[in-house]
Amino acid sequence: MEIIKVANAEEGGKKAFELIKAGMDNGAKVLGLATGSTPETLYKEMTASDLDFSNMVSVNLDEYVGLGGEDDQSYRYFMNDQLFNKKPFKATYVPNGKAADLEAECVHYESIIDSNPIDIQILGIGQNGHIGFNEPGTPLDSLTHVVELTESTINANKRNFEKVEDVPTRAVSMGIGSIMKGKKMILIAYGEAKADAVKGMIDGPVSVDLPASALQNHSDVVVIIDEAAASKL
Ligand code: GLP
Repeated sequence: MEIIKVANAEEGGKKAFELIKAGMDNGAKVLGLATGSTPETLYKEMTASDLDFSNMVSVNLDEYVGLGGEDDQSYRYFMNDQLFNKKPFKATYVPNGKAADLEAECVHYESIIDSNPIDIQILGIGQNGHIGFNEPGTPLDSLTHVVELTESTINANKRNFEKVEDVPTRAVSMGIGSIMKGKKMILIAYGEAKADAVKGMIDGPVSVDLPASALQNHSDVVVIIDEAAASKL
């Protein structure tokens, strides 16, 4: 893993943007994208740039079950708002959280990943080491699946909802195996609340107890972290 320390989220966004730009210069066509507050500065850099994404495809990690693009807490809404409305892509994929048959949606989404192999995967990390919505205990070879969110994740994400009861308890998420199919991983983490997860990801054993530790088995991982997230290394 290559570790890049940055002063703050603004600098981190710029670094991640430079890596995406370099990747696109080298022929990258598919970006794996993430939600959460962490990638927001990257999406600002992308929208402010003169880079053209109209030949690019994006594949997002996850979506809450029960929310659709019209719900402003959905990840589809977030992506449209932060990036796609400002920078059109050729195609943008986010799991359909309102699919009547969620199991079929998972199979369908995995086939989208296989038909659009991800060149560069952007990842945030949960406080418990989750990537996408792959909570501790998720098999490291898992494909897209329906996830029961843990209390810690529900609590961490409740800030985007009026009350904790409004936070969906399930999500459709790319699995750890789906994520690991990507050619290059860029994991970004800011703030002290992520320090333990970052430490476990980099220095701990590869274990289902800390899903991001699976990245130790990937040959091309860049970790962009600020001092606080790096404080336990
Ligand atoms: C959610 C998302 C993850 C994200 C995590 C951290 O659980 N499913 O993809 O990495 O939140 O979010 P934040 O960047 O807001 O800390």
